[in-house]
Amino acid sequence: MPPMQTNKTDRGHVTAELVQYYRDRAVYSRPGIIITEHSCIAESGCAAEGQLSIASDAYIEEHRQLTDAIRAGGSKAFVQLNHAGSNGIGEVDLIDLSGGMCFYFRPGHLEAGYFSSMSEKVKAHVSVPVLLTGGVQHIADAEKLLNAGKADLIGVGRALLKDAHWRETA
Ligand SMILES: Cc1cc2nc3c(=O)[nH]c(=O)nc-3n(C[C@H](O)[C@H](O)[C@H](O)COP(=O)(O)O)c2cc1C
Repeated sequence: MPPMQTNKTDRGHVTAELVQYYRDRAVYSRPGIIITEHSCIAESGCAAEGQLSIASDAYIEEHRQLTDAIRAGGSKAFVQLNHAGSNGIGEVDLIDLSGGMCFYFRPGHLEAGYFSSMSEKVKAHVSVPVLLTGGVQHIADAEKLLNAGKADLIGVGRALLKDAHWRETA
């Protein structure tokens, strides 16, 4: 599950509603990885009001609730680090390929995995896993993209956002 801002925080803090949201998706749809919504790493670098924060050690305990909820379904928990106006983060464990100049759409493309021509090229040049996200709603489409070597992992965003039980009809 790729990162998707939920606006369920309390001024950046984890809430019971937020924990429940991630727990439901972890337990009912069991994605391999859940990347929580973009989280600001400094109070001065928050991009949006309501953005989840990990700006100090004070947030550690509440984030444990989130990671526990995500692991409750067997998913691995990843965080998307965000610092508005800066890209000073040097190391990554995973590349989530999505978006561009038009938010997360690719003009003229509606097919499942609409960034796949790009993820394929990135995958050929990096050693970390490449996650392809965009337009995938069905497991069969995800498998087709994986079998074609377009990426190492496939992200399912809006389908999971809409329905925690997505897996049952995917
Ligand atoms: C409500 C919403 C919030 C999003 N928030 C983020 C975010 O915090 N960080 C990010 O990199 N992408 C964000 N995205 C983009 C998604 O990660 C994903 O790339 C996009 O929804 C396309 O994938 P999909 O077709 O499976 O939904 C967001 C998308 C939506 C719909």
